[in-house]
Amino acid sequence: MARYQFQVVYFEATRRCNLRCPYCMTGSNDAKKVRRSVLRELTLEEIRERILTPARRLGVHTIGWSGGEFLLRKDAPNLLRLTVNLGYQCSVLSNCKKLTRERLQKIRDVTDGRARIVVGLNAVDGENRQTRDSESDRTLQVLEDCAELGLGQHVVITIGKYNTESFEKTVEFCVAHNIAYNRSPLVPRGSGAGCFAGMGFDRNDLERHFHPALRRHPHGYVSYTPYFLSPELHARISGGVRNNTVPQNPSIGCWVGSWLTINAEGDVSVCPVLLDALSGGNVRDMPIDELVESSPFFAEITDRSALKGRCSRCRYQYTCGGCRAMAFYHTGDYMGEDPTCFFDPVDHSTVSEHEAETNRVFKKYLLVARAAGAYKPPAGCRLGGSPAPDSLVKG
Ligand SMILES: C[S@@+](CC[C@H](N)C(=O)[O-])C[C@H]1O[C@@H](n2cnc3c(N)ncnc32)[C@H](O)[C@@H]1O
Ligand code: SF4
Ligand code: SF4
Repeated sequence: MARYQFQVVYFEATRRCNLRCPYCMTGSNDAKKVRRSVLRELTLEEIRERILTPARRLGVHTIGWSGGEFLLRKDAPNLLRLTVNLGYQCSVLSNCKKLTRERLQKIRDVTDGRARIVVGLNAVDGENRQTRDSESDRTLQVLEDCAELGLGQHVVITIGKYNTESFEKTVEFCVAHNIAYNRSPLVPRGSGAGCFAGMGFDRNDLERHFHPALRRHPHGYVSYTPYFLSPELHARISGGVRNNTVPQNPSIGCWVGSWLTINAEGDVSVCPVLLDALSGGNVRDMPIDELVESSPFFAEITDRSALKGRCSRCRYQYTCGGCRAMAFYHTGDYMGEDPTCFFDPVDHSTVSEHEAETNRVFKKYLLVARAAGAYKPPAGCRLGGSPAPDSLVKG
């Protein structure tokens, strides 16, 4: 078995886009950057040989197709078919502009109904336009169409100063419609560089607005930081499964160590928002499994025992890990403490006032994760039977 085991490959297969969001992290609103990139985009053959085929050896189960606007690639249907033929789950991230019912039907057909549509929605009303070059109505319509066509749905809410007040309303919308969601931090990647100083959130925004909403709503993907999950509880339910030092089964806390990400030109990183900024190598030089195995970068950044500052003396050093992107973009050190965290541990014995609630919500999340294939109870674990929410692991 390979030394590392990852869950997801997120692949920005083109920088071309039919929208111009002001904060776009792929620089898809920058014509020069896009022109340069198009000449170097990975071809279908390179994607098959250098990414999709070898990624199986790294345990990857899901490919997330993104961009730019992935659907602008002429070979998008072939890539989607190839993804499911190779046995992967697949997600399609789209800005929804051209996502008509006919296109959704086509995606459903070429993937045998195994695709999930992922949309960015930073607010459910007009506020969405502050950051996105599209009305929320269009996105909401696509979500409705997906539900009617039986396609899975997922919402990405990019968080910053602009949606501190409305965030919980967006989360409640997702919960009410039974749509999985995750939060993603606004970063100074690509055109985001011009917005970060004014729009990036700080520890007060996280403590007062975003974190309480995330804690209250277990439908979300629980990989967020700070994440106050008892390390003993996670060790027990996961059977101690780790990727280097990053707890898995299910993946929690910072995404680094669970995700592999690739840009249009083939550079490999550890989180969507760290692409272009940090790279462990390029798949044109080496297939992705060999690249990950041989790169000192992956060994270092997946070693949570080497975290610094508050993250190094924290009870949640492993189950949270601190957002590596926030550490990097605020301090320049990707192993540094996460400056947006509002927890100030004295040492490893300091317990967060939110731990009990986090544990409770996490147990509910396990049911969702298990149904989605993201959690497999280890042999002997009490979740191994047929769990009902109230009979989940005590602890
Ligand atoms: C780069 S887009 C590509 C997929 C598709 N075109 C879309 O907009 O959803 C993927 C996600 O990144 C988010 N995003 C764009 N710029 C960002 C930034 N500067 N920081 C964090 N997330 C950003 C978008 O809102 C979207 O949810
Ligand atoms: S965020 Fe998405 S829709 Fe907006 S410009 Fe970037 S790639 Fe296009
Ligand atoms: S100090 Fe670091 S590891 Fe601890 S909760 Fe905060 S971000 Fe997470």
